[in-house]
Amino acid sequence: MSENIINDIVAYTLDEALVSNYYLFRVPPLTIVGDGATAKLGEHMKKLKVKHSFIVTDKVIVKLGLLEQTLRSLKKMNIAYTIYDEVEPDPTDLMVYNGVNFYKQSQADCIIGFGGGSPIDAAKAIAVLVNNNLQLNSANIEENINDRPPLVAVPTTAGTGTEVTDVTVITNTTTNVKMVIKHPLMVPDIALIDPNLTLNISPYITAATGIDVLTHAIEAYVARSSCTLARALSHRAIRLVMKYLPTAVGYGANIIARHKMAVACYMAGMAFSNAGLGLCHSMAHQLGATYKIPHGVANALLLPHIMRFNLLVRLDRFVEIAHIIDERFEQLTKKEAALKGIDAIAQMISEIGLPTQLREIGAICEDFNMMAENALKDITIKTNPRSANIDDIIKIFESAY
Ligand SMILES: [Fe+2]
Repeated sequence: MSENIINDIVAYTLDEALVSNYYLFRVPPLTIVGDGATAKLGEHMKKLKVKHSFIVTDKVIVKLGLLEQTLRSLKKMNIAYTIYDEVEPDPTDLMVYNGVNFYKQSQADCIIGFGGGSPIDAAKAIAVLVNNNLQLNSANIEENINDRPPLVAVPTTAGTGTEVTDVTVITNTTTNVKMVIKHPLMVPDIALIDPNLTLNISPYITAATGIDVLTHAIEAYVARSSCTLARALSHRAIRLVMKYLPTAVGYGANIIARHKMAVACYMAGMAFSNAGLGLCHSMAHQLGATYKIPHGVANALLLPHIMRFNLLVRLDRFVEIAHIIDERFEQLTKKEAALKGIDAIAQMISEIGLPTQLREIGAICEDFNMMAENALKDITIKTNPRSANIDDIIKIFESAY
């Protein structure tokens, strides 16, 4: 081996060894925000040279007329469209495969996911499969799969943040397991945030989805893999949710509150997509699967308890969160201040009408062991700041009971 090659190898090795504080931060290349912004979608899709859009949605969205403005915007730009409205809550692999076949017959050259989390998740999975002859599972989505058609996400709730993330959740109908499938190609090319689409959401769903946003922001803020970029976004998202969620719940037609919540959802989505989540989500997924309660309600039942559990390793961050939500704590110790912030969050959850005890949703203590075992297997637990074992998780379920 020549001296030059050896020198190069030594230099490359040193370069790699000296990399620190290294992370990737992935977000959609174009974000469009505005009340009524769906009217502008056609012109932005024209710039992507789209001729025919395949719209993945559900029957409720179509019935409510929420698609109308988007369809007019496409028509105005001479973009044809095909609507696939067969998506149901918790989309399955079969809905995705049907969508892939329908897409291929439609001659479309672009995919729009339009709706709550389910239609957008289905659209993301369809987009990644249409140019790849793959079965859907988390193991076989490789780095080097073929590219996908342009992908647009238009959320009609302020909750999941799937319009930002590189993840989709699809139920495997053979094993009945919810597959969490992650790939950079899942990040949409365009995310369009139009708060007008959220104006008619009921107070209960507004409250539940809003607490999902808050949980994303807080878990990303304290996560083991958190980073400065994620915390900047979480910081603002926490502030907006604490300030505007009560109004969005109490007076849903208030466009300012809806706008702030939609933007908070997007910011929290950027934060957790890159920094990860934590124990609250890993346990909430089990409550959702066992008692069929909305995801945001499951988070609401657990969030204050998880924050108290994580206090042991994230005291300073929880003091910062208390500052963000503007709690007053002169003369208090750091721990008292952090706990005051957590109490303020628990109080808001109660004031916006969500349940605060597991017994209220019919949970039974006999299920705690099984749910704790499954929570330990959930991918989101990996980035929780404090390590948790099965006894810790059971104790948290008991304290939330
Ligand atoms: Fe969530």
